[in-house]
Amino acid sequence: MSRILVLNGPNLNLLGTRQPEVYGSTTLAMVEGACRQHAQTSGAVATCIQSNHEGALIDAIHAAKGTQDGIVLNAGAYTHTSIALMDAIASVELPVIEVHLSNIHAREQFRHHSFIAPVAIGQICGFGAQGYTLAIDALLGHLKERAD
Ligand code: DQA
Repeated sequence: MSRILVLNGPNLNLLGTRQPEVYGSTTLAMVEGACRQHAQTSGAVATCIQSNHEGALIDAIHAAKGTQDGIVLNAGAYTHTSIALMDAIASVELPVIEVHLSNIHAREQFRHHSFIAPVAIGQICGFGAQGYTLAIDALLGHLKERAD
């Protein structure tokens, strides 16, 4: 059974009330519930963590080595700033799918660059909360392909 860490970064605890015109009205609890449900239906198990702190996110990535098979990561604004998160992902050598609710490429210039993208399997953005379940499917597909 594949084990997936769904890791959310800063301000994503406010989903549902935070700029709903950009991020939608689905709460983080709903997103996490959908991830757990979707993983279970696919024969996997999802563990969900959210933190507003860069170091806590790095600790969660380190702890995932040996305990998780892959990570679905929405690093929030740290996506655009954090070399430390990029290094953490490269260090644990776990497959990561990068997710964003909004289409970061259609927004401000500073959101177009991602430090996560070079160390991720791929990026899913612009599909709102649905992006998380798409990312779980992508990760499970990747893990299956690698196992075959
Ligand atoms: C986000 C996009 C980021 O640019 C932003 O800082 C966020 C959310 C998204 O899910 O669309 O916090 O990662």
